[in-house]
Amino acid sequence: MSARIIDGKAIAQEVRAEWKVRADILKSKGVTPGLAVIIVGEDPASKVYVANKVKACAELGLHSEHIALPADTSEAELLARIDALNKDPKIHGLLVQLPVPKHIDSDKVLNAINPEKDVDGFHPINVGALATGNMRFAPCTPYGSLVLLQKSGVSIEGKHAVVVGRSNIVGKPMALLLLQNNATVTICTSRTQDLAKHTRDADILVVATGKPKMITGDMIKPGAAVIDVGINRMADGKLCGDVDFESAKEVAGYITPVPGGVGPMTITMLVANTVQSAERAAGK
Ligand code: GUN
Repeated sequence: MSARIIDGKAIAQEVRAEWKVRADILKSKGVTPGLAVIIVGEDPASKVYVANKVKACAELGLHSEHIALPADTSEAELLARIDALNKDPKIHGLLVQLPVPKHIDSDKVLNAINPEKDVDGFHPINVGALATGNMRFAPCTPYGSLVLLQKSGVSIEGKHAVVVGRSNIVGKPMALLLLQNNATVTICTSRTQDLAKHTRDADILVVATGKPKMITGDMIKPGAAVIDVGINRMADGKLCGDVDFESAKEVAGYITPVPGGVGPMTITMLVANTVQSAERAAGK
């Protein structure tokens, strides 16, 4: 048996087209959704992510502002920039690319962003809203993973979903979104004893550990839906996920490739959150 490959690129295109319709409706009423992305310093991976976020906005005809600040920017200066964008009516979504340089307190930064413009969903108010079932913005990577499952026709209700990884950006919000969709959820970490015992019981397995190929085919339940959030560069320069795709695809029912699985969805959901924020601001 060979798994159905979930084509993240194709699904991302489809979802972007849906949100473009909503953005165009807003624009016809005189409101152009706007996203501001702040990057501090020169981290090469972060620069690529930020450039792609701005590019995605342009493709959908959204307004975007790319604010690149030097690595030695003070915390006070960054907070002042955030404050100005919080008040700027052209901006409906605002994010600071993480990680920020060590002399800046990232919690302070996340707390400073207006929760109504927090399209990453990282502000404690929005984290709490997700946890209590009153979601305002779902964090983009888990939200995109959820949409991949839904668009692939994987049923979630009543199923056992296992999330490996407990980061604030992926693992924890992923678990909450699955719970919200009536899955029975187990969260595992790198310290979980007999990890395979848990993963083998998963109807839906989401892996976000940052450990290349750590989940192998023998750890997967036959027919399971496997979402691989990892993106790791191997010594030979190739990208791989946290799941060993070759062995996993022989066992799983559905699987996301790396690249071309979750990756394209993250930025798509950022655009979606920005359009949704603009709709709310316009009183829709
Ligand atoms: N760094 C890695 N992923 C993300 C993300 O989704 N948002 C922000 N702001 N920074 C990140």
